[in-house]
Amino acid sequence: MRIILADSTPEAVQTVTTTVLEKISSYPSSVIGLATGRTMEPVYAHLVEEAKRLALKMDKTFFFMLDEYLGIEESHPSSFKTYIKSHLQNPLHLHDSQFAFPPTHLVSQGIAGEHYESLIKEAGGIDLQLLGIGVNGHIGFNEPGSAADSKTRVVELTESTKAANRSHFGEGEMPSKALSMGIGSILSAKELVLLATGKSKADAIKYLMNHHDDESCPVTYLKAHPHFTLVLDPEAASKISLKI
Ligand code: F6R
Repeated sequence: MRIILADSTPEAVQTVTTTVLEKISSYPSSVIGLATGRTMEPVYAHLVEEAKRLALKMDKTFFFMLDEYLGIEESHPSSFKTYIKSHLQNPLHLHDSQFAFPPTHLVSQGIAGEHYESLIKEAGGIDLQLLGIGVNGHIGFNEPGSAADSKTRVVELTESTKAANRSHFGEGEMPSKALSMGIGSILSAKELVLLATGKSKADAIKYLMNHHDDESCPVTYLKAHPHFTLVLDPEAASKISLKI
């Protein structure tokens, strides 16, 4: 695991954005895995700004979303599809055909996970997977208890995850399930970059430093990946000490 301690949140965001931009400019047909959440919003804002400034050609790049809520329409204002359309796809005029979303419409047939895994495989796998982290150490919506070899599947959201995301649903009901790539799917990506910002993530980051392969904190599984970069802002890094 490579750790990058940024001096500020904008610097942490810039580090992640630069990794994505470099990947796409050196290999325009890259397959990028996208996360959502508050942490990633400034990443996409900066990415859009920089891609426009550099006139980066992104028409050959393909994107896989990490997860999606179940029980809401894909056009719901808080769906991850809506999120990525407004933060990345529309501002960069990317085509619908460049995105794959967890196929929530196939859940009732019991083939959603298998179908998404085969799409990822057909695309040649994910070159770079962006990740955030939940306060409980979840990755995607792989909550504590998830297995290291889990694949895309329906997951039950924990109370802590629902509490962290309830505000996105206003008066409406917060979904209790999602379709999420598994830990095994994520570990199959060629490179992982996880961004953690803010003090609410400090405990999970501290736990990550001292544990590995611990199902009670799924992020610890990522330490087994040969190309895993953890990018931290000062608050997320505030409970760890790194000996130089
Ligand atoms: C998002 C996702 C989640 C979030 C995590 C952090 O697609 O899968 O793992 O990355 O819940 O969310 P924020 O950034 O809102 O704190």
